[in-house]
Amino acid sequence: MTRYSRITGTGSFLPPRRVTNADLAAELGAKGVETSDEWIVERTGIRARHFAAPDVTSSDLGAEAARRALEAAGRGAGEIDLIIVATSTPDMVFPSAACILQNKLGIAGCAAFDVQAVCSGFVYALTVADSLIRTGGASKALVIGAEVFSRILDFTDRTTCVLFGDGAGAVVLEASETPGILASDLHADGKHVSILCVPGNVSGGKVLGDPLLKMDGQAVFKLAVGVLEDAARATLAKAGKTDADIDWLIPHQANIRIMQSTARKLKLPMDKLVVTVDQHGNTSAASIPLALDASVRSGKIRKGDTLMLEGVGGGFTWGAVLLDF
Ligand code: ACO
Repeated sequence: MTRYSRITGTGSFLPPRRVTNADLAAELGAKGVETSDEWIVERTGIRARHFAAPDVTSSDLGAEAARRALEAAGRGAGEIDLIIVATSTPDMVFPSAACILQNKLGIAGCAAFDVQAVCSGFVYALTVADSLIRTGGASKALVIGAEVFSRILDFTDRTTCVLFGDGAGAVVLEASETPGILASDLHADGKHVSILCVPGNVSGGKVLGDPLLKMDGQAVFKLAVGVLEDAARATLAKAGKTDADIDWLIPHQANIRIMQSTARKLKLPMDKLVVTVDQHGNTSAASIPLALDASVRSGKIRKGDTLMLEGVGGGFTWGAVLLDF
């Protein structure tokens, strides 16, 4: 019998502090950095984001999202045999956020590791978990995207600091006799490192280089629009499906214009596009599972729907996962 993997529960968690564009513009304005709600909404579609308190880490947000996903799946933490956390803002250099989160869930023994693929992290992590489940290496996985991007933002750079937020999303992925995950397609091209990066590093007890996010927004925009269409088409082809089979497109929530352009290229009506960037901003690896959970809990996404998840981000990395929910 063929072994597949299937999502059996979703969960998410946003830190309570919600910062609207007007709030952020006022905070930045006090430091001489000019921006406005109008500019941010028009160029990005973002209206608000959440920022974590200084003592809250990615594993804190991820553990809460994981608890909610476990509850939705009707599973106890002790049944989990694999934890993968997608994050670019881990609690420590090491150990992984996944190990710290495992301990916060009160469990021990199962494999736990992080995946670092920036905003493509969740589709990478989901694909790795699917592969381990299909080959018998695990049967009940927690796959989590968790980020505190506010920690790596330069609040004197208005071209980047208005775009990102903090949060976490999680799914329980279980072995199944019927397919959930239908196909996936992952890519990277390291020659684009410099268009989106946090170039600093820790060495000899000091931070070397600049530890804040740098982005060439227009270069990222152009690359993202092209690769998202390619990844979606390659994934559909692997699954023997077409555009018309997609019930919901859940792209990485970076910029509404990139997301709408991808939907148009896939000939999908805009009402099949899941949008949470307006309320969450860009939460990097957390954005797709956050959007998924919000849509499941609002009743938009239902059991049996076919979902196209798509990530794109620093690396440059990109990829897609097609699944029956
Ligand atoms: N408020 C007000 N004005 C601003 C702001 C701001 N927050 N930011 C930039 N501006 C100004 C610029 O200074 C510029 O002014 P000028 O014309 O006087 O020089 C003007 O607005 C236009 O700036 P552009 O950079 O050309 O604006 P653009 O339309 O390209 O939008 C944006 C910028 C939103 C960043 C866009 O390029 C974009 O969304 N790119 C993709 C970003 C993205 O998706 N990143 C995430 C990738 S995922 C990951 O891995 C993290």
